[in-house]
Amino acid sequence: MSNPSVKPAQGKLGVMVVGLGAVTSTFMTGVLMARKGLAKPVGSMTQYDKIRVGQGADKKYLHYKDIVPLADLNDIVFGAWDVYPANAYESAINAEVLKYKDIAPVKDELEQIKPLKAAFDKNYAKRLDGDNVKDAKDRWDMTEQIRQDIRDFKAKTGVDRVVVLWAASTEIYVPVDEKIHGSLEALENAMKADDKEHIAPSMCYAYAALSEGCPFIMGAPNTTVDIPAMWELSEKTGMPIAGKDFKTGQTLVKSGFAPIIGTRCLGLAGWFSTNILGNRDGLVLDEPANFHTKEVSKLSTLESILVPEEQPDLYTDYYHKVRINYYPPRNDNKEGWDNIDIFGWMGYPMQIKIDFLCRDSILAAPLCLDLVLLSDLAARAGRHGIQRFLSFFLKSPMHDYTKGEVPVNHLFKQYVMLKNAIREMGGYPADETID
Ligand SMILES: NC(=O)c1ccc[n+]([C@@H]2O[C@H](COP(=O)([O-])OP(=O)(O)OC[C@H]3O[C@@H](n4cnc5c(N)ncnc54)[C@H](O)[C@@H]3O)[C@@H](O)[C@H]2O)c1
Repeated sequence: MSNPSVKPAQGKLGVMVVGLGAVTSTFMTGVLMARKGLAKPVGSMTQYDKIRVGQGADKKYLHYKDIVPLADLNDIVFGAWDVYPANAYESAINAEVLKYKDIAPVKDELEQIKPLKAAFDKNYAKRLDGDNVKDAKDRWDMTEQIRQDIRDFKAKTGVDRVVVLWAASTEIYVPVDEKIHGSLEALENAMKADDKEHIAPSMCYAYAALSEGCPFIMGAPNTTVDIPAMWELSEKTGMPIAGKDFKTGQTLVKSGFAPIIGTRCLGLAGWFSTNILGNRDGLVLDEPANFHTKEVSKLSTLESILVPEEQPDLYTDYYHKVRINYYPPRNDNKEGWDNIDIFGWMGYPMQIKIDFLCRDSILAAPLCLDLVLLSDLAARAGRHGIQRFLSFFLKSPMHDYTKGEVPVNHLFKQYVMLKNAIREMGGYPADETID
């Protein structure tokens, strides 16, 4: 079955990534290596997962690409912006995530990916001091320059479509201010007035992407597209938006494990999560103002799975704490500890300990690929605004809080949303059958 209202994935797909650091260079290297048959894109739903379509005697389990028209890995053309001038090959070597043998076969292609000058403001990430930065008169001019970059990239590469993905450093926390972020008109006025306090550079990228007809994905916890002004812009330009914050290590565990406690009606007294991490992301997050953005995102996961109002005996006043500690010797190999204090029959306490020795960028790379391919699909399917079906990939999923919507953080409910969106875009009815 196919859905005639979804446009085919014709031509090349441009993937322009903001930030050419550990995650991005690992993502790009993996795609280029997979294209040559030299590596497997393990962890990618679009490349591996199978979804049931149809019921009873008609049921079939199909890969996503056999249900909906997805762009092929061979059709991806990469571009990037970064504060530092290192090309994707140098960045992959510097990041020390991948072994040389897994980078060398695609060295020539990676070297061609040279970062464009970044739209950057040091006040948003004090620990960075690269000089590959745009000279912009004000925030409006910053946005115009990014728009020109996207047009130039399209003209130079001949790509048919572009998706813009933020995989740059976490900016300092920008609280949502209704007066500035509440409408598109107010946001544009603030950009023209060069309101540096309320307009983060990431908002300039998002505004530019959506205005140029490109879906925008926020992979960091920044509030960039999580504001009514950007929802209005995405409706106006008919583009999908997704975010925020890749759900990789500890939060993936949390959103998969918390349902065990909730489903069995066990109680929770406290959940303490701490991490040690030594890459540049860890360095930026060592700055309290940048960590606060991450903390808000990481804390939101439990509250919507173990809800005090629904089960006051079990979940009232549990203590939830998240820490990230910069510890250089571990580089990208993060260690995430969780100590969970639960209680059972008659209130008797028990403890669960989880120690996840993970690799941050190895977990994030497949999410980049899936978010890019599925956002491109959503655009061709005419879906615009917040894409809730992408919550599966994100730590702090976007939702319209002005209408009282609550985020869905429960991993398995998110998976149902993902599968149903794929079914619908493939012309099959959505359903809730579990298999
Ligand atoms: N790896 C994970 O598991 C994971 C999970 C969730 C979120 N994230 C987020 O993904 C992002 C990337 O992580 P990483 O490990 O690759 O970090 P990184 O520090 O290696 O790379 C980020 C890059 O972004 C660049 N940058 C910063 N501001 C920029 C701007 N305004 N324009 C262009 N470039 C800019 C930096 O110079 C740097 O090279 C971070 O925000 C991180 O919090 C990562």
